[in-house]
Amino acid sequence: MDIIPLVLCSVLFILFLNASVSHFRRRKLPPGPIGLPIFGNLFQVGPKPHVSFARLAKKYGPIMSLRLGSVTSVVVSSPEIAREILQKHDDVFCERAIPDAAKGQANFHISMVWLPAGNRWRMLRQAMHNHLAHKHKLDSLVDLRHKAARELVEHVKEVSQRRCGENGEMSAVAIGNLAFSTALNQMSNVCFSQNVAEYESNEILGFMKAVKTIMHVGGKFNISDLFPWLKTMDPQGIRRKTKKAYDWLEARVDIFLNQRMDQIRNSNLSFNSTHDHDDLLHSFMDCGLKDPDFNTQQLKVLLIELMVAGSDSTSITAEWVMAKLLLNPDIMKKLRQEISEIVGTKGKIEEIDVLNLPYLQAVIKETMRLRFAVPFLMPHKSNEEVEVNGYVIPRNTQIFINAWAIARDPSYWEVPEKFIPERFLNSTVDFKGQHFGFIPFGAGRRICPGMPVAHRMVSLIVASLVYHFDWKLPKGTTIDSLDMDDLFGITLPKATPLLAIPTFLN
Ligand code: HEM
Repeated sequence: MDIIPLVLCSVLFILFLNASVSHFRRRKLPPGPIGLPIFGNLFQVGPKPHVSFARLAKKYGPIMSLRLGSVTSVVVSSPEIAREILQKHDDVFCERAIPDAAKGQANFHISMVWLPAGNRWRMLRQAMHNHLAHKHKLDSLVDLRHKAARELVEHVKEVSQRRCGENGEMSAVAIGNLAFSTALNQMSNVCFSQNVAEYESNEILGFMKAVKTIMHVGGKFNISDLFPWLKTMDPQGIRRKTKKAYDWLEARVDIFLNQRMDQIRNSNLSFNSTHDHDDLLHSFMDCGLKDPDFNTQQLKVLLIELMVAGSDSTSITAEWVMAKLLLNPDIMKKLRQEISEIVGTKGKIEEIDVLNLPYLQAVIKETMRLRFAVPFLMPHKSNEEVEVNGYVIPRNTQIFINAWAIARDPSYWEVPEKFIPERFLNSTVDFKGQHFGFIPFGAGRRICPGMPVAHRMVSLIVASLVYHFDWKLPKGTTIDSLDMDDLFGITLPKATPLLAIPTFLN
């Protein structure tokens, strides 16, 4: 037989085999919409991916694959599949898909958020648990949170006495900014025993701008992630923007860190003592003495991370709660009544009490269900090929857990679009990662390590604002015209800041 036809036949056979195998493998991927050449399903994403993915999931099912540019991703939209991913196959899906935006932080490779789930990540989670989120530690830091809440009340009281405009109207406050300042100062007190900035100061605005940039542009669909060969060019300038924001934060944190480290070194406290240290930095310096991986660089990255994660999602949640209350005056009234009954006997708001107020907790949970602070959780990735619900998910596939859509799943929630805090009364459904229809903090080994801190901060901020002040919408805004739109990013804040006029009550 002539050699040329033989070679041609072999090549054709190999190509045919290759195409069949890849067709077979593609067939085993979860179903999904047909995409365009090169771009895939990119144009089906839109400005609100949590909404468009939920719409697509209605057609293609709770586990769906999408091709975004050259990258295949899987979208999860039901409690059952979320449980498969975050509980049954937690060991496979606990890796992170690192977006190019995260690389604006020079030391992203040692960040707790982006580290692979290996030894260093475990060491950081353990340190955070021991020195921040453990119940004993949390209780020992309660005075710091009370102090930040008192400062919030003092500040709003002062604003409530101001008048503005030609007609001497009452001044409105931007509730999200207040909550951000409070959460940031709570975190900075926990970290370095000091406020990083005063309310309404340029410093606070600087922090807000940096944090909001990281969260907003960091969540955008970035051409560099979808066509990785374009990464060096950073066509949308996303990495440049996050770098500027991270550089600003790092410079600020450097100042606080050095000041506090000098203070600690000059004090007589022994780093080897076993008693509770007064702040996180002090405790972490202790870790550094025992573990060389816990050096100053690591410490700085961790503190920046805690300040960013701690201030943004917490304040977004508090702002949404207040927006929901302004839209539902009866619920606000009922809540104030509940808080007054417990505070009345003591004369002041205490964290231990507000954590046990059923209606307050129900209002917070119901707001978190409808207004997810982190709609897709953080990006998960598979570290090996695995079968889920009869479909093959290849290694290195990015997983979007559409927690926002899951919390509105009508097969799990009755009238899911309605704000009904009562649904959480006498219910065991909680946000601690056991109920997969409601996972605002995620679940499994990557569950938010700041959850207990966040829960306490949000409860205290909301209870303080509702108990001490009556609130009304500014002139020209009504319940019907209040803008409740959200703005997609890593987090999901209100698109327009919530403005409201406080009147001091107690
Ligand atoms: C209401 C407030 C908060 C919400 C809704 C929230 C939500 C989340 C979510 C959904 C994740 C990703 C989970 C996953 O990928 O499966 C996460 C991760 C994380 N959160 Fe939070 N969070 C909040 C507050 C906080 C606070 C106060 C801190 C710090 C004190 C914090 C620190 C972190 C860190 C470090 C991670 C990354 C964990 C890892 O990758 O191992 N968060 N958070």
